[in-house]
Amino acid sequence: MDTVDVIRAKRDGGELIAEQIHWVIDAYVRGDVAEEQMAALAMAILLRGMTRREIADWTEAMIRSGERMDWSALGRACVDKHSTGGVGDKITLALAPAVAACGVAVPQLSGRGLGHTGGTLDKLEAIPGWRATLTPEEMLRTLREVGAVVCAAGEGLAPADRKLYALRDVTGTVESIPLIASSIMSKKIAEGAGALVLDVKVGSGAFMKTRDDARRLAGTMVALGADHGVRTVALLTAMDRPLGRAAGNALEVAEAVEVLDGGGPADVVAVTVTLAREMLATVGGGHGKDPADALRDGSAMDVWRRMVRAQGGDPDAPLPRARETHHVPAPVSGTLRRLDAYAIGVAAWRLGAGRARKEDDVSPSAGAVLHAKPGDPVRAGEPLVTLHTDEPGRFPRALEALDGAIEIDPGGAGPDDLLPLVIERVAEQSA
Ligand code: URA
Repeated sequence: MDTVDVIRAKRDGGELIAEQIHWVIDAYVRGDVAEEQMAALAMAILLRGMTRREIADWTEAMIRSGERMDWSALGRACVDKHSTGGVGDKITLALAPAVAACGVAVPQLSGRGLGHTGGTLDKLEAIPGWRATLTPEEMLRTLREVGAVVCAAGEGLAPADRKLYALRDVTGTVESIPLIASSIMSKKIAEGAGALVLDVKVGSGAFMKTRDDARRLAGTMVALGADHGVRTVALLTAMDRPLGRAAGNALEVAEAVEVLDGGGPADVVAVTVTLAREMLATVGGGHGKDPADALRDGSAMDVWRRMVRAQGGDPDAPLPRARETHHVPAPVSGTLRRLDAYAIGVAAWRLGAGRARKEDDVSPSAGAVLHAKPGDPVRAGEPLVTLHTDEPGRFPRALEALDGAIEIDPGGAGPDDLLPLVIERVAEQSA
């Protein structure tokens, strides 16, 4: 097989055969395909696309590049969830315990954040003592004893994706639906998810800015799940405004704990319960219990506390608080029309909540708290957003990010173009 022939075939709009795909990915991981050759192939894929069969083969090749986990020893239904990422997206924290409280196990391997969206592990690491890294044996024990585990994916899982994603990041080839879908699904399938619910975010704070792109990505991932025997359903959900009222690691943990305590912002509760019900449905139901009840009756909170303890965390320890805060007041009275998700994500990131490079540390206490959401009445001079950081020198750049991100209608008209919170459901015909 010759790498240049494979690149030329895709460059000219051809369909790669399975042997070519398996060979090129295997050779890339071994170092026999050079980075510049893979960069050229990734660009050809971005420009020419791939058929469903090619995407399935590409995904399979990335799965085979590493180990595949298997939870069958658990002897009970397992379901996973993946979000394409957004601002204030702390859903996993209450969702995994709520589903486990309904009798279905949730093994979730998560990542750290890059750029303006936060990562679930960064959020959980704000809890004193909590550690992200578990051995497969510790994961299995936690799943058996607690029912849910959220931890870091090991190095051995889809190593081809790790290498390729780093390359795509620096070659302008991230934004290819076949490459995004195969990247996400290779990791999820290698993690041994028997069933999977995808939360595909749509809007300024998300990867996918439009419903059409999000629908295409969701459809591609659902088809990949079906092709690999993993029952997969996707929900498109709104990310034109932040989810909930907190963006930033410890601030989001605190908000998730409110949800686990039966309270919390209505949008966070609604997305949590909707996704949890989908997760239970993919594996045939939750022993008659509804996740909304699990949040109300304390059983999800009980799983959360045991889940945090199982990973060395102290669920009763105070969360880190930023040394400095800065209030952004409403400039006029009226109704908040727009509070842009991307701008809030960038502000939180600049305050220290996110990282610009993989190697960077994040601040557990930095972030932004919103005092109003689109549609709420606001009064001139009252705080609209509070910025949190340990380093006040970061305030000016965070404030710059908010320029033009907030619109208030003094006449009282609410927003007319907000996306519905749950936009649509994407499933294979039979699902
Ligand atoms: N997340 C992933 O894991 N892979 C992509 O390609 C994009 C987002």
